[in-house]
Amino acid sequence: MKVSPPPWKNPREFLCRAAPEEPVALFCPARLHETALRFRQGFPGLVTYAVKANPDPAVLGCLGAAGLSAFDVASPWEMRHLRAIVPDAVLHYNNPVRTAGEIAEAVRLGVASYAVDCPGELARLAALVPARGTEVAVRFKLPLRGAAYDFGSKFGATPEQAAVLLREVARLGFAPALAFHPGTQCHDAGVWSGYVAAAAGIAREAGVEIARLNVGGGFASHRLEAQPPALEDVFGAIDSAVARGFGRARPALLCEPGRGLVGDAFSLLTRVRALRPDGAVFLNEGIYGGLSEHLVIGPIDRVVSCAPDGRRRRGRLRPRVVFGPTCDSLDRLPEPLLLPEDLAEGDYLLFHGLGAYSTVLATRFNGYGVQRSETVVSLEC
Ligand SMILES: Cc1ncc(COP(=O)(O)O)c(C=O)c1O
Repeated sequence: MKVSPPPWKNPREFLCRAAPEEPVALFCPARLHETALRFRQGFPGLVTYAVKANPDPAVLGCLGAAGLSAFDVASPWEMRHLRAIVPDAVLHYNNPVRTAGEIAEAVRLGVASYAVDCPGELARLAALVPARGTEVAVRFKLPLRGAAYDFGSKFGATPEQAAVLLREVARLGFAPALAFHPGTQCHDAGVWSGYVAAAAGIAREAGVEIARLNVGGGFASHRLEAQPPALEDVFGAIDSAVARGFGRARPALLCEPGRGLVGDAFSLLTRVRALRPDGAVFLNEGIYGGLSEHLVIGPIDRVVSCAPDGRRRRGRLRPRVVFGPTCDSLDRLPEPLLLPEDLAEGDYLLFHGLGAYSTVLATRFNGYGVQRSETVVSLEC
């Protein structure tokens, strides 16, 4: 029988006792559970989890225990991986481009909800998936800004195309639905309101009453000290926009957060390998490892510096260039980090808010990249 080790009390206890040389992802199940409940209690519809953000079995098990029963999966691998951990999971296959083989595997695994964004993908589905009991959501896009980067450049029909597709979905006998994704790390609740209003317009234009509206992921995680995300404001904006747009034809709602759900449940513990006379820091983790998202999402300033004995470094903050451990000169954080004057070689830097798209994107380039995970009772240092 595999017995899990007891969790560490907090990052400080772990680093003092274990003195890790390699980067370590510290997972706090209590934090994940709390965020899952915040979504379940606040969001006015079904909360699902986008497995791609962090498919760690401990994360999926914790979300299952927190009452999540439906998940957004992007591939057959994610379906099988998830089902091995949450056997009764309901699968929503919302990657809009799939091969015939992938669709056949989805049917075998009982997927009953898909998203499409063009007639070709709908035709491929219709040829392989029984319409009865299957939901098909038409994913649409708008030129709205507010997220870290634009999701509409890859997926999504225009509202005009979406109305035509939605009519076809209904004609084929699928349960018709609409879906959008406002873009990841979206700080503007108004983006969701704009999308919901457009969804109501598309349904009207198509003459189709939709069964469900999928309002995507995109919920921001807490990266900057100055800007804690207010999830409840976004939930409120979505609810009001649905009431305004759909009135009595209100569809059921669904969200599929990745980042907003799991981001704050992990912190990444890294170590200073070397300090240069100009103040530059060489860390044991960089852009090819768990810090890769700094390139596309921007910096995290929720960083705590500790000496190897666990004492917080509290010196005056100064901007420092931060390099990763590989031999590649691109391996450098795009912006200097504000780090203490008294930082020393062998110290630890704890990056909070790195639960999403961090461990899963880490490569083994040059033999580095976070591989180890430990459980903590609390992420407070
Ligand atoms: C279809 C779909 N749903 C949900 C998500 C999760 O997005 P986020 O992590 O921004 O919440 C993604 C991210 O790529 C996605 O493609």
